[in-house]
Amino acid sequence: MDLHAANLFKTYTLHRKRVEVLRGVSLEVPSGACVAVVGKSGSGKSTLLHLLGGLDRPDKANPGQADLGPAQVRAGETDVTRLRGSALDRYRAQSVGFVFQLYHLLPELSVLQNVAIAAMVRHGLAFGAQRGAQMAKAAALLTSFGMGHRLEHRPAELSGGERQRVALARALINRPLLLFADEPTGNLDPSTGGQILDLLDAYRRETGATMVIVTHSIEVASRADRVVRLVDGRIVVDQTVQAVG
Ligand SMILES: Nc1ncnc2c1ncn2[C@@H]1O[C@H](COP(=O)(O)OP(=O)(O)OP(=O)(O)O)[C@@H](O)[C@H]1O
Ligand SMILES: [Mg+2]
Repeated sequence: MDLHAANLFKTYTLHRKRVEVLRGVSLEVPSGACVAVVGKSGSGKSTLLHLLGGLDRPDKANPGQADLGPAQVRAGETDVTRLRGSALDRYRAQSVGFVFQLYHLLPELSVLQNVAIAAMVRHGLAFGAQRGAQMAKAAALLTSFGMGHRLEHRPAELSGGERQRVALARALINRPLLLFADEPTGNLDPSTGGQILDLLDAYRRETGATMVIVTHSIEVASRADRVVRLVDGRIVVDQTVQAVG
């Protein structure tokens, strides 16, 4: 599924002060491609990822930029910026996997429950046999990620690399064709980070999913098809891996 974003603006207002984060970002990701987004802390990488994944909306009005045309996020045939309510929920559950910067696992649930619940949401919170099937699917995926021996642990009882693998399993359980990952190797040592990247690569080969990965890591960027850099709310560099640093 290809991803197309145009004219994305995002301004936060905090204590009456405007914080202009994105100032007209446009991005094309062909179906099955992987784009890495780099940029300084605070440059708006997470903000952009949330807009692309349909977790947040771009600003409607872009003052002084009327000539640019409307903000748009399109995934395949879906105009994401127009989706509301249950249509947006359905789109997110079916098509989008999201790995958050700080994992965002539910602390009271076990590893298995954290992953299975995403499958249940996708299939309309399941009961009885259906519920068992989603649990089995989650257990199988976690086992393939090397987490089979930790299914009953809670997130606080895991290492950082283990949490990241659970977050990735949760993002992939519904086999989304779009995957957004925010610093998926950020807190990991190179070898553990490498394992996460191998899982991502394998998933992309298997499914042809389209990926956007926010990263500070040269290793991640070097595996991407393309690297874009956010500076002052805009994408200013859009070239090959050599430009990362
Ligand atoms: N809800 C919010 N309200 C006000 N300001 C916000 C909000 N969310 C983010 N910001 C500001 O927007 C800017 C961009 O934040 P964002 O999280 O997108 O940066 P980032 O590039 O992901 O940084 P990092 O590399 O540290 O994760 C920051 O300066 C941040 O303070
Ligand atoms: Mg961030």
